[in-house]
Amino acid sequence: MRSLLIGVGSHGGDTLLPAACSAGIPLSALVDRDAPRASQLAAQWMIPQVYATADQVDSSTFDTALIALPVTEQAAHAAWALKAGLHTFVEKPPAPDLRGLHSLIELAQQSDAVCCVGMNFRWAEGIRKLIEALESGTYGTATCVRVEHVARKPVTSFSAELSLEASLFAAQGIHAIDLAQMLMPGTTGTAGQMISVDRGRLCAMGATNPKAGTRLEVLFGSCAAAFYHSVHVTTSRGDMFHLRDLSELQLRPSGGDPHVTEYPGVRVLWRRSPGSDGYTHAGYGPELAAFRDLLNGEAPHRLARLEDLLPVYEAFDALLTSEGLGWTA
Ligand SMILES: NC(=O)c1ccc[n+]([C@@H]2O[C@H](COP(=O)([O-])OP(=O)(O)OC[C@H]3O[C@@H](n4cnc5c(N)ncnc54)[C@H](O)[C@@H]3O)[C@@H](O)[C@H]2O)c1
Repeated sequence: MRSLLIGVGSHGGDTLLPAACSAGIPLSALVDRDAPRASQLAAQWMIPQVYATADQVDSSTFDTALIALPVTEQAAHAAWALKAGLHTFVEKPPAPDLRGLHSLIELAQQSDAVCCVGMNFRWAEGIRKLIEALESGTYGTATCVRVEHVARKPVTSFSAELSLEASLFAAQGIHAIDLAQMLMPGTTGTAGQMISVDRGRLCAMGATNPKAGTRLEVLFGSCAAAFYHSVHVTTSRGDMFHLRDLSELQLRPSGGDPHVTEYPGVRVLWRRSPGSDGYTHAGYGPELAAFRDLLNGEAPHRLARLEDLLPVYEAFDALLTSEGLGWTA
């Protein structure tokens, strides 16, 4: 498998490149208009070819493209890769707005190539532990999910074309909404609002499924001093899980649990090991390994496809519309 990485800036060069190598996706070429950085990384990682732009690449000599470009560049490059028949792993967000996502989905449907989106939180160690617990059958099913994801950026828009709210979605909101929807699919009737903060943006959203008696809540923003992450899941049995900063998974058991008579307090189900590397902890390595396995014929277990992100974009689009805001500046 010959793969190229398009975009070797902060995320592409410092995270995806080493994560791809550790996940068994050796890279044969780097593409970045920052030639000195691309050449330095290529020398450091013994990658034989460097190109300044995708136009210079003879796509017939590659099988796979990994893409980590600025938000406004990603959709066009994903389209280029898919038209060339390259299996594509494009970092989130694959498109800057809902319309762009629709166009990319249409294109992907006409292509034989696989297209997955880098949604690493789906693969974070703590999330996998939480999913394992939920799938064990011991605790019932998730009935209320709350994801909080507050970072320190963006405080300005990523480009003149994008609104600050769309930039917040591209950086943080897409992760938070996707994670909540993955843990509990099937809610509708999204309602939410922008919350007043002096720095950056903060956004709250809720969605329900009254028939099933389930609810999803998401809070994401860019007003924090440092990254804050929290996932709460309440189950049909009344158990409450809390994954704090992707580092510790706690269980507060249901009052009906036979063991609470002995000890009604909190159980720590998992704690991050100091030895766990960042690529695994944050999910980058396992996600790319799953992408590699998918290309080798395995089932697309939990990898995000473009169409999986439609309800994520639609939920945020509904919120923008209700607030009189838009994707563009
Ligand atoms: N999943 C995550 O946790 C995560 C984290 C950070 C960033 N990202 C995503 O990764 C992408 C890149 O982010 P970043 O922080 O690395 O940005 P960055 O600005 O540091 O890097 C972008 C790189 O793309 C290059 N570039 C821009 N336009 C190009 C073009 N037309 N042709 C060739 N090279 C071009 C630039 O020279 C730069 O090196 C973004 O879309 C972002 O959303 C994902």
